[in-house]
Amino acid sequence: MLGRFFRRKDNQDSTEVPLDLTNIPSHIAIIMDGNGRWAKKRGLPRIAGHREGTKVIKKIVKKANELGVSILTLYAFSTENWKRPKDEVDFLLKLPESFLNTYLPELIEENVQVRIMGEKSNLPAHTVRAVDTAIEQTQHNDGLILNFALNYGSRYELSKAIQQIASDVKTGSLSIEDINEDLVSAHLFRPELKDPDLLIRTSGEIRLSNFMLWQLAYTELWFTDTFWPDFSEDELVQAVKDYQLRGRRFGGVQSG
Ligand code: IPE
Ligand code: IPE
Ligand code: MG
Repeated sequence: MLGRFFRRKDNQDSTEVPLDLTNIPSHIAIIMDGNGRWAKKRGLPRIAGHREGTKVIKKIVKKANELGVSILTLYAFSTENWKRPKDEVDFLLKLPESFLNTYLPELIEENVQVRIMGEKSNLPAHTVRAVDTAIEQTQHNDGLILNFALNYGSRYELSKAIQQIASDVKTGSLSIEDINEDLVSAHLFRPELKDPDLLIRTSGEIRLSNFMLWQLAYTELWFTDTFWPDFSEDELVQAVKDYQLRGRRFGGVQSG
């Protein structure tokens, strides 16, 4: 199924244009949504959708790496997802561990670097242990950065940044005049990662759900009705091709 809300240069249809390997978005962020509805449609419990969705992660990581994407950020668990039934939360927080138990050797082989973006302090110890091991074992790799947004919320992230900045002002190590956009960016969870070039959201919802509100200021947005467990490598390529037809101006005027 095609992504929605395209903005195409010269009304070109991205399905008909070849992929331009010289213009691959270097940071792609994905809101992996629709696992529950995928399962419901099949008369299965929601967790069956989460399990199926985990398999898709591995395929998409491999394809993104092949395409030459530098950073892939995946929204895995939001600060609002704690509102779900305890059984589902427990299952979701076991997924990083089962994903990494199955796939870490392949990720190492594929030169992937694992990172995490979110609040670790109230995650279960087994979840933190699994991601810390993956981070450590992939720290010397220099291929695709696979950044899991886990217990992540953009408003939480910004509140923490503001707290830290205010504290530095209070202690005198920072003056108010030094507060600017770069300084705020430097206080986010993953300051070393550039802002996403392309955001993909699956499942037909057209919203950001508290995801990277600061970092997405000039990101190209791409929405598809496909539920995450049905998302494919072909659809990733489709999103990238559509991105390549966008005219990014960043508030300036189009060159050429
Ligand atoms: C995405 O699928 C996974 C997480 C949010 C953790 P959902 O579980 O939100 O699936 P739907 O949106 O209810 O179908
Ligand atoms: C966003 O999906 C969070 C993740 C994909 C991890 P949700 O399913 O939680 O978002 P809403 O509730 O539909 O906005
Ligand atoms: Mg959802």
